[in-house]
Amino acid sequence: MTSPKSRHWALIPAAGAGRRFGAERPKQYLDLAGRMVIDHSLGLFTEHPAISGCIVALSPEDRYWPQSRFAEHPYVRRACGGHERSNSVANGLELLAAQDGAEDEDWVLVHDAARPCLHPEDLDALIAVLRNESVGALLAVPLHDTIKQSADGCKVDASVPRASLWRAFTPQAFRLGLLRRALTKAEANNAIVTDDASAVELLGLQPRLVKGRADNIKITHPEDLALARFFLQQQGRLC
Ligand code: CTP
Ligand code: MG
Repeated sequence: MTSPKSRHWALIPAAGAGRRFGAERPKQYLDLAGRMVIDHSLGLFTEHPAISGCIVALSPEDRYWPQSRFAEHPYVRRACGGHERSNSVANGLELLAAQDGAEDEDWVLVHDAARPCLHPEDLDALIAVLRNESVGALLAVPLHDTIKQSADGCKVDASVPRASLWRAFTPQAFRLGLLRRALTKAEANNAIVTDDASAVELLGLQPRLVKGRADNIKITHPEDLALARFFLQQQGRLC
């Protein structure tokens, strides 16, 4: 359970190259309704009263961060990104532990820079769940489509029952000490972890699913940018 002293930190992995999107710059730096994608993603955290500080993990070759409206923000610090998302998160956690005085019991909310449509109510719901949670929690959405399995990518081998399947979103919140341990173990075992919960699951623990909104999309392909603009407009969040 959260002790009254546990603080909350935000960690935004933003060191990806956006290869699937294929733009001239990483997708987190593209314009989305007059602001950079990352500024939408980060803004909710810098404004939230429960968040003590934010870390952004940036590529060592990053040239665009200085254009962010949060580049000089007093609550935002930069960490060096790594080869994989999990490396970027691990580096951010090290910085939090070493320089920001964060404690092992503090909560870290990891949120993809590429998810600009996180709704404030989903963030509040996640933080509220942490009050009664020991392992950690993540926003997720149940699957609605019928799922097909195919070994060769052409022909269907089977339909997969979807009743127990969820799409994992971010933020994903874990205690600093636990997440550091989980990522260190995943790295040592060469395990592929595409989100933070996967690393924690490898410790045999069960993160809590918090049903979130389906509009918390991750911008991945070019068509997602128009969709994100539409969702922000629907949420009444366009500047
Ligand atoms: N990310 C990161 N460090 C990496 C890879 C990804 O911090 N080495 C971040 C991305 O910037 C993004 C989030 O993790 O905010 C989710 O990753 P993804 O959607 O895969 O973004 P990219 O890796 O940039 O995209 P792609 O896989 O298409 O290259
Ligand atoms: Mg990637």
